[in-house]
Amino acid sequence: ARLAILISGRGSNMAAILRESREGILKGLCEVAVVVSNTCSAAGLETARNAGIPAICVSSKGKKRREFEEELIENLEKYRPDYIILAGFMRILTPFFIHRYRNRILNIHPADTAQFQGIGGYEWAFEKGLKETKITVHLIDDGVDTGPVLAQKTVDLRGADTLEEVEKRGLAVERTFYSQVIRDVLTGKIHQQEIQS
Ligand code: GRF
Repeated sequence: ARLAILISGRGSNMAAILRESREGILKGLCEVAVVVSNTCSAAGLETARNAGIPAICVSSKGKKRREFEEELIENLEKYRPDYIILAGFMRILTPFFIHRYRNRILNIHPADTAQFQGIGGYEWAFEKGLKETKITVHLIDDGVDTGPVLAQKTVDLRGADTLEEVEKRGLAVERTFYSQVIRDVLTGKIHQQEIQS
């Protein structure tokens, strides 16, 4: 399968998926066809380029959502992606884009999507003093962080007494978990019925 990874910043999840696709658990299952950022200064673009992956900026700045998404689709289509992988992509997508890639857009959310939606999942867990939190990988539907959950993984937060520590533990889980879920989707192990249609 061909993956297009959408980012807005650092791209640590993108880098992990890239690694796994080349020499890890995703090897032979998929390749990263392109990395796209809606923010031209995203550090992740440089990381992808250094790894020899086409990495392009489709700026969303000052654009209407529809205009941005048309441009995004136009660029993505050159790379014929089978799946769109959101990895720290900070722009809300509208039904126009979502229906174009129906049930083929995955996202990783740093919280339980049933408990917390939107940005700041680690801040939320930290401020609530949670003993554990969950990382969610889900399909994108028309809502924000409301799509069908593909898998969740618990992060142990006992003794994590700073936000930095909460984030560190969460990101460590995110880094391996996203690729595992992608593998399970590609091999048909999870929620095949959600992916088809
Ligand atoms: C991650 O915590 C991800 O779950 C959230 O944004 C962060 C992105 O980090 N959606 P990175 O850009 O993948 O390093």
